[in-house]
Amino acid sequence: MLNGITSRDLSNEISITNITQQSNSLQIEWDDGHHASFNFLWLRDNCSSGFHSDTQERTFDQLSVGADIHPLSFDFTDSQLHITWSENNHDSQFCQQWLRLHAYSGSLSQRPKSTYRSWDNCFLDSIPEVDNQALLNDDRVLFEWMTELDRDGLTIVRNMPKTDEAVVDVAERIDYLRRTNFGVTFNVVSVPNPINLAYTSIALPLHTDLPNQELPPGYQFLHCLVNASEGGASLFVDSLKVLEDLRSENLEHFRLLSEYAIPFRFHDDEHDICQYHPIINLNTFGEIVEIKYNAHLADTFDLPEEVMHDYYLAYRNLMGRLREPRYTIKLKLQSGDMVVFDNRRVMHGRDAFDASAGSRQLRGCYVDRTEFQSRLRVLGERFKSDLEGS
Ligand code: OGA
Ligand code: ZN
Repeated sequence: MLNGITSRDLSNEISITNITQQSNSLQIEWDDGHHASFNFLWLRDNCSSGFHSDTQERTFDQLSVGADIHPLSFDFTDSQLHITWSENNHDSQFCQQWLRLHAYSGSLSQRPKSTYRSWDNCFLDSIPEVDNQALLNDDRVLFEWMTELDRDGLTIVRNMPKTDEAVVDVAERIDYLRRTNFGVTFNVVSVPNPINLAYTSIALPLHTDLPNQELPPGYQFLHCLVNASEGGASLFVDSLKVLEDLRSENLEHFRLLSEYAIPFRFHDDEHDICQYHPIINLNTFGEIVEIKYNAHLADTFDLPEEVMHDYYLAYRNLMGRLREPRYTIKLKLQSGDMVVFDNRRVMHGRDAFDASAGSRQLRGCYVDRTEFQSRLRVLGERFKSDLEGS
């Protein structure tokens, strides 16, 4: 996730030395040589009087002041900046440290940093593991595990009880589950008349689940209840690594896959769920934040004529890379193991298995990224300083 600033990053040592008024901002200088400008509308918008004292939500209406609002006067003490505004006889107080923390210009502009760390097949030897009971009973273990899961996108939970509820019990340690057309939980088992290739015994090439949804599910939990058949090993690839390499080796292919949307579709008797998405999703900083890739659910491409051939070349380039052993982790889940991975980052698949040679059953569910990130932040407030000190 993107790691923002927290109250712990505040330093009490730094003080304002000078403030000058410019056409639409105050320019503040600190005694460590840094300076930053603070726009008048921004300052008025962040006046503490404009936030509800209980909920901390903003109650200030930006349009209640004119666009040309400006300080009539200002001064600063060791701890505060004080402004008297040109409108409504209004005064604002800003804590010096708060201003420093939220400075958005020049050398102090704070772009949130990604917490992701990409991996190739060497990661097989260092996949984070956690014990099911420890995860259920200890919030610190939960925090450390979620921190690793956020960073690496793939972890294993060991010693899961062989029950239908076990997968939900772990997932709900994070938050509520994401329900899909396959239910709140789903059983991955080979059945007659399957509605989905996962419910057969054939191989599943690397994919992300449900790119046909407007918002594909975030973290996926797959609890192995039994895996006694021949074959059926699980495959994982960190798309972040593959896409970083694609970007540095073929920028044009990377661009095509991130700019042009293709259709994905799932349909059965009750649903027809389809959505257009680019395969690669970048955030506003140009960082790779998501892949949506599922060759089985990709519908008929309807790209512009002049793009179609080049797009296929880019798509095939990505497909070929996803088959390179240097990226792929293969492991056979045993009864009592559960993999948890970021479905929007780490691609998964499986080898074919012989259903007549023994049974294979996984039980799955999802928790979305929003809930995951929220829980991680809340736990971080409790445990982060301990972690940094250790
Ligand atoms: C799935 C899936 C993997 C497996 O159900 O979406 O990819 O190992 N299953 O069966
Ligand atoms: Zn899947």
